[in-house]
Amino acid sequence: MFKVLDRARRLEAEGRSIIHLEIGDPDFSTPDNIVAAAKRALDAGEHHYTSSWGIPEFRQEIRKVTQHSRGFLPDENQVLVVPGANIGIFYAIFCLANAGQEVLVPDPGFPTYLSSIKMCGATAVPYPLHDKNQFRIRAADIEPLITPRTRLLILNSPQNPTGAITERWALEEIYELAVKHDLYIYSDEIYARMVYGDSDFFSIASLDQCRERVILSNGFSKAFAMTGWRLGVLVAPDVVAERMMMLLQTTSSCVSPFLQRAGLEAITGDQSQVRVMMDEYRARRDLLVEGLRAIPGLQCHMPGGAFYAFPDIRAFGMTSEAFAEYMLDEAGVALLPGSNFGDQGEGFVRICYASSRENISEALRRIAAACAKLTITAGT
Ligand SMILES: Cc1ncc(COP(=O)(O)O)c(C=O)c1O
Repeated sequence: MFKVLDRARRLEAEGRSIIHLEIGDPDFSTPDNIVAAAKRALDAGEHHYTSSWGIPEFRQEIRKVTQHSRGFLPDENQVLVVPGANIGIFYAIFCLANAGQEVLVPDPGFPTYLSSIKMCGATAVPYPLHDKNQFRIRAADIEPLITPRTRLLILNSPQNPTGAITERWALEEIYELAVKHDLYIYSDEIYARMVYGDSDFFSIASLDQCRERVILSNGFSKAFAMTGWRLGVLVAPDVVAERMMMLLQTTSSCVSPFLQRAGLEAITGDQSQVRVMMDEYRARRDLLVEGLRAIPGLQCHMPGGAFYAFPDIRAFGMTSEAFAEYMLDEAGVALLPGSNFGDQGEGFVRICYASSRENISEALRRIAAACAKLTITAGT
C-alpha cells in the first residue's frame, strides 16, 4: 500500500490529479458526539492509568452490545479493551501460536495477519478464498491444510479486501472443523457494522460464546471513522483474555481513558451520523460496482460489507501489479493490486470507496478510458 501511496504522492508533486481509492480510511470525520465525549473526559480530568482490562462501564456496555448483536452475554473477564484491532491480532497470535505452529490465514486477506505470524515465529498457512464462491470462506478449502501443528484459524467476515460476507451455514461447518481439530478461531469482525443488508452477517462467536475457542475481535476505526484514535475490543475465553491482558499491560499499560469514553459513546450514544455514513457508503458501493461492471473486460461481485470492491481484471492478461501501476500512471487512479493480499488475489485489484461520489464517478470515467486502450486477451 505504501509503495502505491509513495508513487501517487510523487505524481501529485509533479502536478498530476490523483484519485485516492487505495487506503481503507474513512473520508468522514469521527461523529461529533464521540469527539465531545472524549473532550468531556479530558475536561473531567481523566488523564491517568485505568485498569489494563479497560474502564468497567465500557466493558459492561461491550458485554451488552455483544448480547444484543451476537446473542450471548460474555463474562466481564472475557472482555479486553485494546489499542486498535491491529494489535489485537498480534496479541492473539503471540499468546496462542508458538514457533513451529501453524496459523491458517485467508488468501486474499488482510496483510497484518502474515506479518504478526512472522514476528511471532509461527508459520502462516494461507487458505484460498475463491472467486467462484464470491470469496466466501469454505470449510472444504481449509480442511486439507490442517496438520497436527495447526493451532489457530483466522477468519474475517465482512472481509478485507473482497467485501465478502460468509454465510451462517458455512461458519457452522468451519466451527465444527475447529472443534474436530481442536483449533482456536480468531474472528476479525471489524467490519461487522458495515453490512449493506443484502447479505446477513453472522458471527461465529455466537456458536461458542467465546468460552472455548473463539476470540472475537472488533474495532472502532471503520464504522465510527476513528482510524486515528486506536481503539478495539477482544472477547475471548477467560484464560486467553487474561494472557492477552498481561501482554497489553506489559507493553501499553492500558488504553487511554478518554479514548475509552469515546468508545463508550460510540456504542451507546446517538447513531445518526453513523447511519448517514453507512447510507453514503451503500450509495457509493452501488455506483462503483455498477460502473465497473459496465466497463468491458472488468467483472465485479457485489460486496456485502466493508468498503471495498475487488474487481476481476484477468481479461486484460496483466498482473494485478502491472494493472494498478497502469491505472496510476495512465488514469491517475490509485488502487491496490490484489496480489498484495496473497497469491489468490492475483488477477484482481482492491478499490476502496471511502471517497466521495464525485471522485468515484470521475475515477470510473478514467478507468473506463484507460481500459479502452488495453486489449482484452482472455475470457474469465
Ligand atoms: C480486516 C482488518 N482487521 C483489522 C484492521 C485494523 O484496524 P485498526 O485500525 O483497529 O487497527 C483492519 C484495517 O484495515 C482490517 O482491514
